[in-house]
Amino acid sequence: MKLGARLAAIAAYVLPGSRVADIGTDHGYLAAHLAARGDVGFVIAGDVNEGPLATARELINNLGLTDKIAVRLGDGLAVVRPEEVDTVVIAGMGGTTMIHILTPQTGLAHKLKRLILQPMVGAGTLRLWLVKNGFCLVDERLVREEGRIYEIIVAEPGPGTPDNLLSVEFGSLLWEKRDPLLKEYWQQILAHLQAVQESLRQSTQGSQHPKYRENMEKMLFLKERIRCL
Ligand SMILES: C[S@@+](CC[C@H](N)C(=O)[O-])C[C@H]1O[C@@H](n2cnc3c(N)ncnc32)[C@H](O)[C@@H]1O
Repeated sequence: MKLGARLAAIAAYVLPGSRVADIGTDHGYLAAHLAARGDVGFVIAGDVNEGPLATARELINNLGLTDKIAVRLGDGLAVVRPEEVDTVVIAGMGGTTMIHILTPQTGLAHKLKRLILQPMVGAGTLRLWLVKNGFCLVDERLVREEGRIYEIIVAEPGPGTPDNLLSVEFGSLLWEKRDPLLKEYWQQILAHLQAVQESLRQSTQGSQHPKYRENMEKMLFLKERIRCL
């Protein structure tokens, strides 16, 4: 099963021998790819909506992978029994939705070997949640698909290395690795922050708005780092 660049980069973080839950599987491409790979023991394809699961089921049937993938309907990690898997992938949703999925199941998540997360928005909020809730960020990368840049975050249970919170929010490991797409990605974030500042300036509170000062600090931080890339 050939994947696009985004899902292929996510799949590359699934270690040989893993037992994986793909939460929010939708079409089931990632789950099918992992099951067909041969070095992944067991895959759960979970989704909260029956429509996407029907599509995933059809794909899995057509590829003859029904004995390798358990297709389950349910909200977030409710489809996973304790210690059934050691790796959880959550991709293609917002960072806040991921936090809502992980929060009630933090105990289960702490027993995993690895979480592989690909938030569409809110990656900074998600990173901060992870480091404040007993997860260590072990890898991060950016990947471009059809003109859009996506972030992938790999976290494992354990204490993180203390770091400046702004650095964590914008991706300490992306910075340490000097990810090849980082400059372009941070420039996009900076442009977004500039647009937010402009609309705050026009609001009734103007530059007195509490978000204004916070965003200013973020912009200064990003500008400083972008200059070094
Ligand atoms: C945009 S798709 C992403 C599909 C795939 N993971 C990918 O990255 O290509 C998001 C999927 O997440 C599912 N979803 C949203 N909230 C969920 C939740 N709380 N638990 C499980 N699945 C959820 C949606 O039904 C949808 O199928």
